[in-house]
Amino acid sequence: LPGLPAVYADNDEAQTLEIVLEDSATGVEAMLLYGVLPELDIITRSVYVRNQSSEKIYVNKVMSAELDFLYGDYDLLTFYGRHAMERNLQRVPVVHGSQMIGSVRGTSSHQYNPMMILAEKDTTEDHGGCYAMSFVYSGNFQGEVLKDQYNQTRMLLGVQEECFRYPLEAGETFYAPEVILSYTDQGMNRLSQNLHSCIRHHICRGKYKTAIRPVLVNSWEAAYFDFTGETLYNLAKEAKSLGIDMLVLDDGWFGKRDDDNSGLGDWYVNEKKLGETLGGLVKRVNDLGVKFGIWIEPEMVNPKSELFEKHPDWAIHLPNRETYYYRNQLVLDLSNPKVQDYVFSVVDNIMTENPDLAFFKWDCNSPITNVYSPYLKEKQNQLYIDHVRGVYNVFKRVAEKYPHLPIMLCSGGGARCDYEALKYFTEFWCSDNTDPIERLYIQWGFSQFFPAKAMCAHVTSWNKNTSIKFRTDVAMMCKMGFDISLKEMNEDEMKYCQEAVANYKRLKGTILDGDLYRLVSPYDTNHSSVMYVDKAKSKSVLFAYDIHPRFGEKTFPVKLQGLDPNKKYKVQEINLMPGQKSTLVTDGGTFSGDFLMKIGMNVFSTAHARSKVIELTEVH
Ligand code: DGJ
Repeated sequence: LPGLPAVYADNDEAQTLEIVLEDSATGVEAMLLYGVLPELDIITRSVYVRNQSSEKIYVNKVMSAELDFLYGDYDLLTFYGRHAMERNLQRVPVVHGSQMIGSVRGTSSHQYNPMMILAEKDTTEDHGGCYAMSFVYSGNFQGEVLKDQYNQTRMLLGVQEECFRYPLEAGETFYAPEVILSYTDQGMNRLSQNLHSCIRHHICRGKYKTAIRPVLVNSWEAAYFDFTGETLYNLAKEAKSLGIDMLVLDDGWFGKRDDDNSGLGDWYVNEKKLGETLGGLVKRVNDLGVKFGIWIEPEMVNPKSELFEKHPDWAIHLPNRETYYYRNQLVLDLSNPKVQDYVFSVVDNIMTENPDLAFFKWDCNSPITNVYSPYLKEKQNQLYIDHVRGVYNVFKRVAEKYPHLPIMLCSGGGARCDYEALKYFTEFWCSDNTDPIERLYIQWGFSQFFPAKAMCAHVTSWNKNTSIKFRTDVAMMCKMGFDISLKEMNEDEMKYCQEAVANYKRLKGTILDGDLYRLVSPYDTNHSSVMYVDKAKSKSVLFAYDIHPRFGEKTFPVKLQGLDPNKKYKVQEINLMPGQKSTLVTDGGTFSGDFLMKIGMNVFSTAHARSKVIELTEVH
């Protein structure tokens, strides 16, 4: 799809069916594109509108995919949220009329993700029919489910109607982004596995499609804006002793940026604050055997910045009106090719001056506010589309020039997590909320659509009522990292983390690329459990969490899934605190997959905020 991300596949893996619809009265054509990946139970759908008439037309609405169900009674699953509370699962019956989700914030947003599931009434994680739709797009979107007078259900996903009226001159074409669809009769776990495989093999690109991803420590929650080169060097040193591979320097290293009021746009190193050059710091950290990554937010500008003084017309904002600032900043107008060049040059200059940088965290903290493009002038109805096209153009140029550079995509946490992003980025910062209890819910929601390797989860000092073990065990379910001053930890905690990092590195392949099974939902119980199984079914990691069990609650065994019933597995609890003994009755024993899946294991307790990580290894 020109200018748009899409699923890719080899000729022998997929076929595309094209259906042309023609409106003979006007000569306008709509082309429906169906891509089929039979091995994965994935169908992609997109549409483009071609103006074959002799006059200008306006496209006022375009839905990339539509599914019609002539009968059946369904539930709709959507994932709502807000800053620091992303991806809450909502399951409601489909009722007569229309149920709608969407974004009008310029990005896919914290509020909803561009993804929906339609499930038969009795569908659970492990059985029943369900259909998923997910938009491969990072801008405004609209999803809708309608039930009519004959109880027929229609599910639609596509471009947001609000502020959309796209002009097409004679001969021009409008390409709508792609939607990924999947169906299974085996429950939501299988649906997620289909989508995860599609992402891993047909969206992710570059070296980190398969390469092992580094474990990093990020400076944000360890130091916020308050650091020097020495603070960072010491953090890297401590991190090294834990076995961490990389230090990421977050916000505050450039321009005049000691808080979030100023500096965005002025991407030159604040050497006074660092007390040294960036290159010097990178070298010192690299000499410890620790890689160095850096944070940027190049699509944004603070009005208090040299960039804004020089180019006020590069920012999206209304003339003659009081400007509303979200986090004291404005969004740069990426519909303007000059601004695209500038944003690309931010990354390019940093990389040219510091070729040893091994990672970027790319942030985007404001939705589009004061919606007016000084560049588009009278063509404001194109802004949301042309801006995102401009954003993609920059992402593409960065990916082409730096194909091996892993980049985390962040948007005040999870405001721009969608399948598009994974074409250019290796992972998402899912949420600024790193309270491990909240994370159990947030990660549960994300996991419906995204594989663990795309979901960053960091050990932080949020919710110190929970142990470092609990916080680490929750982070370990995803792409684990740290965002904490390691000085906060005592000796036992450091020892525990050292072992946890080593365990994680050993088991990363299974966690990040294995099949996910959500076993016990935190939404339905006072506990939660998920497991990952590798493709050969010879290694598995089970995570179990007690959240806030009720007084005198009776716990129940958890039946495992995805193992080979005929194989034998050694069960071993790992990630124990120094001196802690496992209370798992099955610890150290060997059991058949059949037993573990039919009888299960008692992994829960009645303690608050307790966790267990259990490794299962095939024995011959
Ligand atoms: C929001 C991100 O989600 C945080 O992790 C951090 O990078 C801040 N921005 C920095 O301003």
